[in-house]
Amino acid sequence: SGWGAFILTQRTISKQITLIQCVGKGRYGEVWKGLFQYEAVAVKKFLSRDEASFNREIEIYTHSNLNKHENILSFIGADVTSENSCTRLWLVTAYHELGSLFDFLSQNILSFTDMISIMASIANGLTYLHTENFGTQKKVAIAHRDIKSKNILMKSRSVCCIADFGLAVTKQITGLLDVGRNNYRVGTKRYMAPEVLDDSFGKDVFTAYTCADIYSFALVLWEILRRLDLPPLSNYEVPYQYKVPSDPSFEDMHKIVCVEQFRPEIPSHLEMNTEMPSLQTICKIIRESWSKNPFSRLNALRIKKSLINLMSTTTI
Ligand code: ADE
Repeated sequence: SGWGAFILTQRTISKQITLIQCVGKGRYGEVWKGLFQYEAVAVKKFLSRDEASFNREIEIYTHSNLNKHENILSFIGADVTSENSCTRLWLVTAYHELGSLFDFLSQNILSFTDMISIMASIANGLTYLHTENFGTQKKVAIAHRDIKSKNILMKSRSVCCIADFGLAVTKQITGLLDVGRNNYRVGTKRYMAPEVLDDSFGKDVFTAYTCADIYSFALVLWEILRRLDLPPLSNYEVPYQYKVPSDPSFEDMHKIVCVEQFRPEIPSHLEMNTEMPSLQTICKIIRESWSKNPFSRLNALRIKKSLINLMSTTTI
């Protein structure tokens, strides 16, 4: 198909990269820091069993007119080569020294300004992904389907970009085939929206995926909010940390999120803070966006606008 030729032309990129060190390891494979033309790059090495994710990620980057956007991880190139008769799949992107939002939140507390800026930058990236542009750019609408703090990278201490498009779908794809009950990789169970867990998706599959992204984003907003530098401080926690085991099953998540309709606890000193009304606004955004009803959630643009509004009106 179309991108086969593209990959062939990119075959040489791996020969021009010097790998420096492994910076991440997971079920997907490994991420390495490398040097390409004197510039630090990230090399994501996919396991060959995850070729579907690799292909999807390249397809999204190269065929969706996902143009360079400040809050989307920049694509540099891809490479398919054979190494001792093993297929080697490399995705080369910009490198961000601070690592993932998950890493950052585990080790840092946030000033109010940085917190809002981090939230707004993710909302900005998600708005760009979800939005179709019929103008000259012809950008297609994309649902991410695996929004979580490990798939968001820190470009600086106050700006993030969204990464990992191995599961993403475009509006066109969802219109053509039933990816509802897909046979390939599905998103991270911990961050799965109630309607994904109990399979109660409506007819408009694409819109359903964007609404599910918003639920996952609300959990990420909760993770960020908890790290605000406002005593009493709390340690970093993943969503539902003490409610489900560390690698929760579908059933574990379904019981908590759908049956018990439990949601992460928002510390009352943040939600009930009368001195900082912007904290109440953020809590309201989070609660509305993890609602059981997908259609009563806010959309990415609304969240972005509210957060930008808070950035300009809040004085500390
Ligand atoms: N971890 C995963 N992707 C990364 C990237 N692009 N830069 C730095 N660390 C990463």
